[in-house]
Amino acid sequence: MNNPPSTSRSSYDPSGGAGAVATPGGPAAGGGPGPRTAKAAGGAGPRTAGDAGAGPLLSVRGLVKTFPGRRVLGRAAAPVRAVDGVDLELAAGETLGLVGESGCGKSTTGRMLVRLLEPTAGTVEFEGRDITRLSPRELRSTRRRLQIVFQDPHASLNPRQTVARIISEPLLVQGVSVRSARDRAAELLELVGLGAEHLDRHPYQFSGGQAQRIGIARALATGPRLIVADEPVSALDVSVQAQVVNLMERLRAELGLSFLFIAHDLSVVKRVCDRVAVMYLGRVVEIGDKRELYGRPAHPYTRALLSAVPLPDPAAERRRERIILLGDPPSPAAPPGGCGFHPRCPKAQAVCRTERPLLRTVGPGTRTAACHFPETD
Ligand SMILES: Nc1ncnc2c1ncn2[C@@H]1O[C@H](COP(=O)(O)OP(=O)(O)O)[C@@H](O)[C@H]1O
Ligand code: SF4
Ligand SMILES: [Mg+2]
Repeated sequence: MNNPPSTSRSSYDPSGGAGAVATPGGPAAGGGPGPRTAKAAGGAGPRTAGDAGAGPLLSVRGLVKTFPGRRVLGRAAAPVRAVDGVDLELAAGETLGLVGESGCGKSTTGRMLVRLLEPTAGTVEFEGRDITRLSPRELRSTRRRLQIVFQDPHASLNPRQTVARIISEPLLVQGVSVRSARDRAAELLELVGLGAEHLDRHPYQFSGGQAQRIGIARALATGPRLIVADEPVSALDVSVQAQVVNLMERLRAELGLSFLFIAHDLSVVKRVCDRVAVMYLGRVVEIGDKRELYGRPAHPYTRALLSAVPLPDPAAERRRERIILLGDPPSPAAPPGGCGFHPRCPKAQAVCRTERPLLRTVGPGTRTAACHFPETD
């Protein structure tokens, strides 16, 4: 399924826009360079769930995004229900994977979580406050702690700006002096495996992997608690994907960050995530602990996705049975009734065509799946 071009990312402003009153954490941000500790460099510092009270760091309820249909031969096409009622929770320090085929609504969900897109309906509570209702000023302040890393690093960095400028921008907006912001940019570059010698270069002088490190440094500048990483390695060469994943894992441990890690590569998700949510046609169809979900997938779609992942053990790999799904996912402009997966589901029965299954608990743990006939073995 072809996705339309996304909104321009080179204009993305991680500070939340000019006039933001953000103050970065860490001593280096406000004055001179500090030691390269987690706190000084990232501004976040290890945190616990208790920081935000007893509740989750992020709580999403009934999130919907409908795009107007494109006009074809002067006639308006049906609206596209890209995200169709998503519920998610994420604890402080946790990494949640969001997986599914291209076009299922992952990026649209991620963009709504940082309010780069306005939801059509639903709530997004971050640190206990619904960000869909914040004033522009409150949103700018909140965005310091809620950042995004994009799939295509080069498209997300302004080609006319130097690296120093790109990373300093959110700090300058807050009134940090040019000198201090530059020192901090140098620290952040070191934190992501680059160095001060890169400050005066432009994005085109970097490889994809290096450019993504710059995108990550920019996201860290304001001391975020949660980073939405939208397929952060899928545009990179396979050889550098592991390095960037390693970097994100290290940052998570050192800075106590939470990640929503969007991906279509289930092997990467298995490595970096604590819990995984599987999306299909704008809805979450299964969500749960990584080990439970990978070990005993309950939803037929999760089973099919996992059956396509090669296994490291040669004997298990020889036994692996692939479930081939017929056809493409249906268009979100004309979703099927009942269970959206029924036209492709090997287990579909009559009820699946008429009744939409809701997420409900499957098995002994906390896993939930939206299926009338979940696998429970
Ligand atoms: N700005 C837009 N206008 C119209 N349709 C859109 C827009 N952005 C995304 N879509 C559609 O919404 C659906 C979900 O897209 P997206 O969130 O990008 O999926 P994913 O990230 O999972 O590949 C797709 O059908 C896509 O074509
Ligand atoms: S509800 Fe029916 S069609 Fe949908 S996944 Fe379950 S068995 Fe398949
Ligand atoms: Mg996407």
